[in-house]
Amino acid sequence: MMADKKRILVTRDFPPAGIDRLKENSAFELTQWEMDRPMTREELLERAKDHDVVLCTLTERIDREFLEACSHLEMISQFAVGYDNIDVAAAAELGIPVGFTPDAMSDATADIAFGLMIASARKMFYLHNTIAKGEWGYFRPRGHLGVELSGKTLGIFGMGRIGMKTAQRCRGAYNMEILYCSRNRKPEAEKELDAALVDFDTLLGKSDIVSAHCALTAGTRHIFNRDAFERMKPEAIFINTARGPIHHEPDLIRALEGGEIRGAGLDVTDPEPMRQDNPLLFMENVCVLPHVGSGTNEARNEMSAMAADNIVEFYRNGRIPHIVNPEVLSG
Ligand code: DGY
Repeated sequence: MMADKKRILVTRDFPPAGIDRLKENSAFELTQWEMDRPMTREELLERAKDHDVVLCTLTERIDREFLEACSHLEMISQFAVGYDNIDVAAAAELGIPVGFTPDAMSDATADIAFGLMIASARKMFYLHNTIAKGEWGYFRPRGHLGVELSGKTLGIFGMGRIGMKTAQRCRGAYNMEILYCSRNRKPEAEKELDAALVDFDTLLGKSDIVSAHCALTAGTRHIFNRDAFERMKPEAIFINTARGPIHHEPDLIRALEGGEIRGAGLDVTDPEPMRQDNPLLFMENVCVLPHVGSGTNEARNEMSAMAADNIVEFYRNGRIPHIVNPEVLSG
């Protein structure tokens, strides 16, 4: 008799690379959430109850309450490198392993960080909007002047895979000096990019561009707040492609309005989605994107493939190639 199929709840319309592999595998039965929007809390709870695995992403809040209600889950497979939507400690306590998809989106996200630097330094989104409003007028020799990035100092907050790729782009294209602030020393960044490890204060005080690439944790939540913006150069540009709550949005608005910093490029906001009347959307030196750092065919398909592999390998040989809480499987 055939063993029972493992039931996988697929919470969003993920790209086919991995999903098709799961569908074709006779060991699995997939339930695909049929709507474009994320599930509500109740819908997620209700559906997860009769599944073995939840294949989810950052739009699903997998907190302790959810995990305790769904402690039957055998695995959670997260389609993202960030997993701040998941209470990993609670999952570990309940013996639920959590897979994730590191590095699949490093190039794509570094491109967005790099693009946002140029776009905000040159007021690109704002100027695009002025054309749409019929305000082009004529060439103005002193109008809408931006700043150049060549030779500037880049401060990377969180020199992980994405931070490193962002620094490589800035060094290669603009010969920027690279400073970084990280939990651990990164000898490869120091060797390849001549990057210097500095403390947070120095990073803020010396960088022309400060780019956040850390995970969202209790220690990094709102680390870019009024105090941090006050310590940045008045000509500095702040970039966040990591998680919205790493910066304190009202403090960022105040810093930009007060001229404490020059500009900002955000791929992540707090909350998401950003309200359409948010003042950041109307500022000359600010560019905002709707959390699309990993939004390329290449990255999203790779994420899908990794999220699926994590499930396949777990059921094939009891290991998860990319796991957030390995202690669950080694115990
Ligand atoms: C991630 O992977 O954490 C991104 O934010 C979404 O792809």
